[in-house]
Amino acid sequence: MDHFAFKDGVLHAEDVPLPAIAAAVGTPVYVYSRATLTRHARVFRDALSILPSVHIAFAVKANPNLAVLKLLAREGYGADVVSGGEMDRALAAGIPAAGVVFSGVGKTAGEMRRALAAGIGQFNLESEEEGIELAALAAQSGTTAAAALRVNPDVDAGTNAKISTGKAENKFGVPYDRAAAMYARLSALPGLRMRGLAVHIGSQLARLEPLESAFSRMGDLMRTIRNAGGTITHMDLGGGIGVPYKAGEVFPSPADYAVMVARVTAGWDVTLMFEPGRVIAGNSGVLATRVIRVKPGVSCPFVVVDAAMNDLARPALYDAWHDFVAAQPSGARMAANIVGPICESSDTFAMGRDIDAVSPGDLAVFRTAGAYGATMANTYNSRALVPEVMVDGDKWALVADRIDPATILAAERVPDWLE
Ligand code: LLP
Repeated sequence: MDHFAFKDGVLHAEDVPLPAIAAAVGTPVYVYSRATLTRHARVFRDALSILPSVHIAFAVKANPNLAVLKLLAREGYGADVVSGGEMDRALAAGIPAAGVVFSGVGKTAGEMRRALAAGIGQFNLESEEEGIELAALAAQSGTTAAAALRVNPDVDAGTNAKISTGKAENKFGVPYDRAAAMYARLSALPGLRMRGLAVHIGSQLARLEPLESAFSRMGDLMRTIRNAGGTITHMDLGGGIGVPYKAGEVFPSPADYAVMVARVTAGWDVTLMFEPGRVIAGNSGVLATRVIRVKPGVSCPFVVVDAAMNDLARPALYDAWHDFVAAQPSGARMAANIVGPICESSDTFAMGRDIDAVSPGDLAVFRTAGAYGATMANTYNSRALVPEVMVDGDKWALVADRIDPATILAAERVPDWLE
């Protein structure tokens, strides 16, 4: 459920008509609904309240906007970060360092040092080499790093290959068969306090079964490690729950997920950690865009909008579907290819799609753009970096400026020897 709905024929974000935001800020622009974000954060948290001990760390990569993180901090969320930059954002938003989990296959020594100094709650190690390096850095600085070992359970998540992470051939985690011995070696290192295991098999999962088999394999591994004398107090079950991108699609609910987790983890006697991203932020945002031109095509016209693959990369990268809805639909429909202005064919949002009939100048939105939208934006074709707005009831605020091409140009230098 979200708070983007039509009132008197005009699409609103909560109580604010989208055309008003577009007129004030220009397009393209991301618009987030505070009520939707809050609702999703609470529904997820409340669903997990059937479990004995839980820590929820929002996957910052899904939407790192400072205002979004602030809102989640106020809802008691921690943060799952994968870079020093994400860590800084989480801390700047007021998320306590103890609630921060540092994931990622390529943490640099500099990032690990900074995270140790900040006192973050847990490092999710992706290799033994990383654990050895972290142990040494922690010992040098006179601290101890709490860590979990990320294990690759070799389970097919059944999602797009580019966002699947839990198959043996993926770069993530350590091989399942070698994890117990590695855990024992890492546990013996001064500077490191191994406290658990972590798993994340992929994103936009449509079914719970792959998660269930991954978690149950992790339970077996946990028992093996404990039987050998290892200590496990935390199990990080990652993120991955999918959301509907097409009107009418049905996905497992947070409540279904929680019931499955409760069943699989019964008797584990650990704090369960979660790293949701998309399920919190996905339906909380839209990308508003204006139609520049409608140009004839072979089988149907091209609707050229002012948003492009640099603003919303998911269709170009993963053939992802985002519903396209006119902000003031007339009721008429048309078949169209929806494309952006960028000079490559992958700058295509939809082909031959049945959409609201639109004309040049009309405002429309791509829905379900609150996760992996603005965060993946870039400035390809020397376009601006897309701005972000948050709505709260009848108020709205710019929460990220448009970064103009002129600002980016001003950061570039021509060396003397080229002058
Ligand atoms: N934890 C880890 C270790 C992750 O790698 C990810 C996502 C998450 C949690 C959050 O997963 P979520 O709950 O959002 O599914 N750019 C792609 C998605 C990439 C996801 C990467 N990892 C997209 O636009 O679909």
